Amino acid sequence: MVKKSACIFISGSGTNLRSIIKSSRDYNFPINVRLVISNKKSAGGICFAKKFSIPYLVLNFKKQKFEKIAIKELISRKIKLVCLAGFMSILSKNFVRNFKGKIINIHPSLLPKYKGLNTFARVLNDKEKITGCTVHFVDEKLDNGRTIIKKRVLIKKNDNTQILKKRVQLEEYKAYSMAIRKIYIIN
Ligand code: GRF
Repeated sequence: MVKKSACIFISGSGTNLRSIIKSSRDYNFPINVRLVISNKKSAGGICFAKKFSIPYLVLNFKKQKFEKIAIKELISRKIKLVCLAGFMSILSKNFVRNFKGKIINIHPSLLPKYKGLNTFARVLNDKEKITGCTVHFVDEKLDNGRTIIKKRVLIKKNDNTQILKKRVQLEEYKAYSMAIRKIYIIN
């Protein structure tokens, strides 16, 4: 099986990045992580790129310059899939159009509910009984593209944002790898 080359965009701790890299060590996993791009110098996740000897770029620039360099790198390295994993910037329409159908994202809620930030606090505030995470294709609107996979997490009586976040993140790690496998089965 010829694996596709993927790039992971991060801004933070990179635990989803770590999980995708681990899955990609499997012979049958459809992608190899060939590049990590962070838009933050301080992103903890850069350590996973180093640990697993994956090339990485820190593009600590405003959106326009960030995207200009990123597009050049993605094209020259023949990247076929971009995975947003805790990437805290909204990609421009131009960027999304350039990689139509090739950018996916993970969001910590059951979309279309709770788009945007602070999902755990909002879910608890609304006394929801269930939440989860969604892996979806990225389109030009925030947290909006076609769903690939959703995973549900039951909310317990004593949950606070940290406890709930931990449980949802455990599901995220499974969901992201399942979603990557799924898109290559469909296509
Ligand atoms: C994840 O919870 C993801 O749902 C959200 O940002 C968080 C990133 O965590 N988009 P990490 O950087 O992968 O640890």
